[in-house]
Order: sequence, then C-alpha cells, then structure tokens
Amino acid sequence: MSESSMTVAGVMSGTSADGINVALVRIEKAQTSSNQAVASSLTHRGQNLPEACRGECPRHTGPLIELLGHAEYPYPRQVRAAVLAAMNSTHASVADLARLNFLLGELYSDAILSTQRRFKTKADLIGCHGQTLYHQGKPSDFLERKISATWQTGEAAIVAAKLGVPVVSDFRPADMAVGGKGAPLVPLLDYMLFRDAQVGRIVQNIGGIANLTAIPAGATAADVIAFDTGPGNMVIDAITEKLFGRRYDRDGKIAATGTVLEKIVSKLLRRTYFRQKAPKTAGREEFGRKFVDEFFRLHKGCRKQDIVATATALTAKSIADAVRRLAHGKAKGPKANFQEMILSGGGAKNPTLVNMLKQELAPLGVKVCLSDEFGLPSAAKEAVAFAVLAYETWHRRPSNIPTATGAKRPAVLGKISYP
Ligand SMILES: Nc1ncnc2c1ncn2[C@@H]1O[C@H](COP(=O)(O)OP(=O)(O)O)[C@@H](O)[C@H]1O
Ligand SMILES: [Mg+2]
Repeated sequence: MSESSMTVAGVMSGTSADGINVALVRIEKAQTSSNQAVASSLTHRGQNLPEACRGECPRHTGPLIELLGHAEYPYPRQVRAAVLAAMNSTHASVADLARLNFLLGELYSDAILSTQRRFKTKADLIGCHGQTLYHQGKPSDFLERKISATWQTGEAAIVAAKLGVPVVSDFRPADMAVGGKGAPLVPLLDYMLFRDAQVGRIVQNIGGIANLTAIPAGATAADVIAFDTGPGNMVIDAITEKLFGRRYDRDGKIAATGTVLEKIVSKLLRRTYFRQKAPKTAGREEFGRKFVDEFFRLHKGCRKQDIVATATALTAKSIADAVRRLAHGKAKGPKANFQEMILSGGGAKNPTLVNMLKQELAPLGVKVCLSDEFGLPSAAKEAVAFAVLAYETWHRRPSNIPTATGAKRPAVLGKISYP
C-alpha cells in the first residue's frame, strides 16, 4: 500500500469518563522503507514539539506529524452517569448497553464535526478509541477456559457514516489475541516523540489511571518499558465527588488544604498491584468503586480535606515508587537512569499532585516537566496517539510495542469501518 499524507482525527475518551478529546493531526508521508511502525520515528515540524526533535533517530526518517488542533467535549451529565453505571455494574441491561454504543457513536461524530469546523480542517481518516466499559488484560477462568477480555464502546459505523471517511476503532483486541494485555498502546507515540540519545525519559500520563512509558537514553523500541502505575485521578475524583459533591478537585485546591495521612498511603502501597512486575494494566476493576469503599473505611473519622490529600498522595507516591523500582532495576527491563519525567493527562492540571510528584522525584534526580513544554498540550496526547495508531493501521503496520503489552508479537491493531 502506498504511503500518503493524511489528516487524521484521533478521538479518545478515557477511564475518567469525563468526556471526549479530539486531536486533528497532519501526518506526512514516511520516507522509510521499514515496515515496522515501531522502528520508524515519528518526528514533527513547525513550532510543534520542537524539543522532541532531539529524539530523532538518525537511522530512520519516519512520518512527520503536526498537531493542527485539539478540543475537549465533556460528556453531558446523564451520559457520564450512564457510562459510569455501565462500568461499575455487575448486572446491566443489554438493551441499554447496545443503545449506549450507538449514542456514543453520535456524540463522537458531533465532537469530530465541531473540531473540524473550529479548525477549518477535514479529516481523511479517524482513529476512535471508544469508551472502555471493561478491561481485563490478564486471563482468568471463564466457563472452563482462560479468557482475557476488553470492551470499548462507541459505534464506529455511525462515525464513518456521519463523517464520510474510514474509521479505525477497537484497537486493543488484536494485541490481546497475540497474548498481550491490550494496554498500554500510547507508548508508540511516546517512543516516537520523546526518545533521546542522551536523556533517559519517563513519559507519565495521569488520566483516570496513571501509566508510564520509560525510555532509556539511546533506547530502541525493544528497550521501552510501559505499564500502569496505578490510580491517576480516579480515586481523587471519586472521593471529591462523595465528600464535596464536585466532579473533581479543581486545581488541587482541596488537597492543598489537607494533610496527607502517610500511614494509610504506606499501607495501600503494600498492595499486590503496586508490587507486581510490568507488564501490568489497571482500570476501574482495580481502582474503582470497591477500592474507593475500602479507602473510605481506612479513613473513619478523618477530616474530609485530609482524605482528598491522601488520595492525591497515593497517586504521586505510587508513581514515584514505580520510578524508584525502575531505577533500581526491580521492574522487568534494563537498568536505566532517568533524568526527566514528561507529564500529560488531566492530572497534569492538578498543581498539588504535580508538586507532590516533584518532591518525590527530586531526590531521584528526576526533573518533572509538562508535555505542554514540548508543544504537546497535556490533554491532547492520548488523542494524538490514536490518530497515529489509526494511520499505522491504515498502512497495515503493527503498532503495539510487545515489551509494553506483553504480546508475543507485533500486531496490526483495530478494525476499519467504511463510510
Ligand atoms: N484543572 C484541573 N485540576 C485538577 N484536576 C483536573 C483538572 N483538569 C482535569 N483534571 C483531572 O483530569 C481528569 C481527566 O483526565 P483525562 O486525562 O481526561 O483522563 P482520562 O484519560 O481517564 O479520561 C479529570 O477527571 C480530573 O480529575
Ligand atoms: Mg478524559
């Protein structure tokens, strides 16, 4: 298939279930003969991501990307409630789930159309992650077989019909079909944008769940380590909602007035998930309602703001713990030195959380900066990633990083819906 320049819309809605992020990305023709997406380098031009140019690998000249625009669309209140109910439910109405799939298809279409109008650009291709309702990366017993499973909803056929262009969706199952955990998939973009010959970097996204991509200095794709460190905003959001009736702790203001209950954080950090080796993935199954109920039980009689501060510290310290394990070579993969952490996701907008992280990482010699400082708005990163993954799939190239997902081999990700 010949390689072409395309404008691709990447659409993401994460486990926070806060809404839809759309990124319009221009991806230029690749000049590499390599058929391995992971081996090609994603560079960029113009004023976008100037710093990351330092990471360009001299052996390959891969596609160029340019972020043309990014927009966020919060879910209407009732839609968010329906999504959260479906995620947390052990019993759900099949009719409602089917309707939710088609409804989200409509909302994704509206979001892409609005973004196209706003930036006066039309996409040639769409990469739509969908809303995860269930993710179980590790096989477990089910009807006498070992099964792992994932489910992203948001009907791509609706999006293809409304936008009039092909849509790549359902990225995760192909990785799981070859033994991977189906996540994380963003490391491809992290590797392409942020690898550096001299600087060891950790690219840390703080969405509902927090995940990191560790890229040692001079790394090849095979050296990349990536996994979910644990809760991102998910626990903070749930606690803030319950105690203060607000969707999230805006600008970390509540946590800033509280005192962290260190003993509780230490106790929680001893849980199996945090000590497990990578690759590992987490979701609402690990840090959703059940975890939050337990979190509350540990805080009987505590001040409300202290509970929010403690939830914030749990995120910061679990990330720092993961970095410490990496630096000491306890996590699977090469022993490495890391000098920079590049933050993205909604959690990067919480200064209390970011300051806690800075304090934890300073003794390790790791400097924390925001992906915005590299020209990539922190809220846009995952949407950009799914534009790039769609582009790779459109050209029939694999885009999972097996060391990150645990897959036995690279796989072409996703399904294509035609208009
Ligand atoms: N100004 C802010 N202050 C504090 N937290 C914020 C702010 N903006 C966003 N967030 C947090 O980021 C979350 C959304 O992050 P996002 O990266 O979209 O996660 P996901 O990928 O799981 O949808 C919100 O639920 C909220 O917790
Ligand atoms: Mg979100």
